[in-house]
Order: sequence, then structure tokens, then C-alpha cells
Amino acid sequence: MAASIKTTDELAKMRVAGRLAADVLEMIGPYVQPGVTTSKLDEICHKFMVDEQQCIPAPLDYHGFPKSICTSVNQVVCHGIPTDKKALKQGDIINIDITVIKDGYHGDTSQMFCVGDVASHAKRLMEVAQECLYLGIDKVKPGATLGDIGFVIQQHAAENYYSVVREYCGHGIGAVFHEDPQVLHYGKAGKGLVLEEGMTFTIEPMLNAGKRHVKLNRRDGWTVETTDGRLSAQWEHTLAVTATGVDVLTVRSDESFNGY
Ligand code: MF3
Ligand code: CO
Ligand code: CO
Repeated sequence: MAASIKTTDELAKMRVAGRLAADVLEMIGPYVQPGVTTSKLDEICHKFMVDEQQCIPAPLDYHGFPKSICTSVNQVVCHGIPTDKKALKQGDIINIDITVIKDGYHGDTSQMFCVGDVASHAKRLMEVAQECLYLGIDKVKPGATLGDIGFVIQQHAAENYYSVVREYCGHGIGAVFHEDPQVLHYGKAGKGLVLEEGMTFTIEPMLNAGKRHVKLNRRDGWTVETTDGRLSAQWEHTLAVTATGVDVLTVRSDESFNGY
């Protein structure tokens, strides 16, 4: 499983794409309220990406995906399709996953949002999933391995009695949306691909409140849900390996990665 090393010029373009993807999440946050439909959120994001940012929403027509963003509500694990059939309601949790293409390069990032007041058990799942992402990011530097990342994510989830989805993973990213390597969210420390400066990939752990098993909705061919119907949460960043550590290309203003 190889991973391409990006040139300085490519990294500069990825930094721009990453910034734009993060900006879409920051823009859409205030619209995530009880009563809004996910297709409305899709429409607002689509307009913003195309008209304001002059970038391409990567999901649209990607292997036939029908919308510009993914919206995954409650028991939906990932790849939820925005719909006008159902409005968000108080107590829902939602992952919004944004991928933009700018100047030929991708930026891919997602975050969880609460719809109004949310039960503390759901907030806890969201928090631990975010901590898993951050612990994974903390491992990224030249000489570390993909197994180091998967291991800490799996460990932190298990310590909190949550399960990690295995069927979907992080991925190399650049001019191609999904390229090698696969970034598993479980694994053995010290095993797997050795990281090198100039690699770019995502980490995007999906944690389930119940069992790790998922099912693909056969009607739409996209929506992935927990088999047991319990909640799932996911957070994602696009990263570049630097000489000394990591550059979080999709960092938002509510985050800080001090020391990198
Ligand atoms: N953004 C997702 C990821 O993190 C992929 C979405 S593919 C789509 O890799 F077709 F569902 F949009
Ligand atoms: Co991704
Ligand atoms: Co994504």
C-alpha cells in the first residue's frame, strides 16, 4: 500500500482546499437547527462552494452520489444523502461531511452538530469520537506508522465502551479524492505504513454507541447505518505529514493544534 509524496506546490494547493472545506463547515453551523431539512443544508453549502468559493463539491456525481454534501443523522454512520422528506428535530445529532475540489486538489472534513438540546449520552459519544480523531492526529509524524494511529483510536473508543466501525476508513487524498493508503481506525502500534514528510491523508473515525456492525441501505445504495439502530458519530480532518509532525489542513477556528 503505497502513498504518494506531495510536492511543495501540491501541498500549497491542498492547504487552500483544506481551508475552504473548513470554511464551509463554519458557514453552515448556524443553519443546523430544529426544522431545517438536510436538503436545505445541502443547497446552502452547494451555493456557497460554487458561487462564493468557486470550488467544486466533490461528492456531487462521485460514483453517482446525488448531492453536494453528506448528512448523516443519528444512527446513520456515513454517506447520508440530504433529503427534503424529513426535517431535523430537537435532540438529533448530525455529521456534515464536506469535500471541495479547488485548483484540482481535495479538502475533506466533517464534524458533528447538535440539533437544539441533545441528550448527554449522545454528546458524550460525539466528544469521544472527536477525542479519537485528535489522538490519531497526535501520532502523525515522520517515522510513525498507520498502525499507531489506528491503535490509539481503537483504544480510546474501547476505554469508553464504544465500538469502532471497520468497513469504512480514512484515505490518502490529493488530486484524487480517495487514494492509497487506507487509514484504518483500529490496528497495532508499530505496524503498517511508515509515515513520511509530504504524505497527505484523512483520519475520520466512526464510533458507534452499540455494536460496530453496519448495513448499507439497499434502496439508495449509499446510506450506511448501524445494524442495531443505535447512534454513531464521526469527525474528519485532512492532514499533511511535515518534517516534524503534522499540519491539519482543515483546521477550524474553534480548534487549535498547538505545537505543530
Ligand atoms: N467525504 C467522504 C469521505 O470522507 C466521502 C463521501 S463520498 C460520497 O471520504 F460520494 F458519499 F460523497
Ligand atoms: Co474522507
Ligand atoms: Co469526508
